[in-house]
Amino acid sequence: MKTMKRLAATLVTAIISQAAFANECTVDVEAGDALSFNTTKIEIPASCANATINFKHTGRLPAAAMGHNWVLAKTADLQPIQNDGNVAGAAGGYLKADDPRVIAATAIIGGGESTSVTFATGGLNAGDAYSFFCTVMSHSVVMKGTFALKG
Ligand code: CO
Repeated sequence: MKTMKRLAATLVTAIISQAAFANECTVDVEAGDALSFNTTKIEIPASCANATINFKHTGRLPAAAMGHNWVLAKTADLQPIQNDGNVAGAAGGYLKADDPRVIAATAIIGGGESTSVTFATGGLNAGDAYSFFCTVMSHSVVMKGTFALKG
């Protein structure tokens, strides 16, 4: 009986560890009807080959009025990406088409909508600084945070 209990406990521990590991590579991010994300710092274990961002717009305003995207790039590329995004405008999704400086980007969403993006972390260097930001209507001026691989 004791052995059975111990076995069961071991199984539960194994299942929980596996779930925790999977969750570490997935981050939930939210934004509402203001120019901010619900976090200014995202860290993902370097052991994650891929990272997933689940992005939810918790506000009420439609994308045309208060749309947001979640874009990841080197911090040094933020402003150039935003500048080109402004040129692309709403029709271009506020991003230059196939911008090689963009590591990952979600679609633009409005209130009540959700989206996600999964990207490989292999190209990220520990020595570089990365930021996530929203390029809609120059939101990145204030709507941004830092992104890093840890460990
Ligand atoms: Co925005």
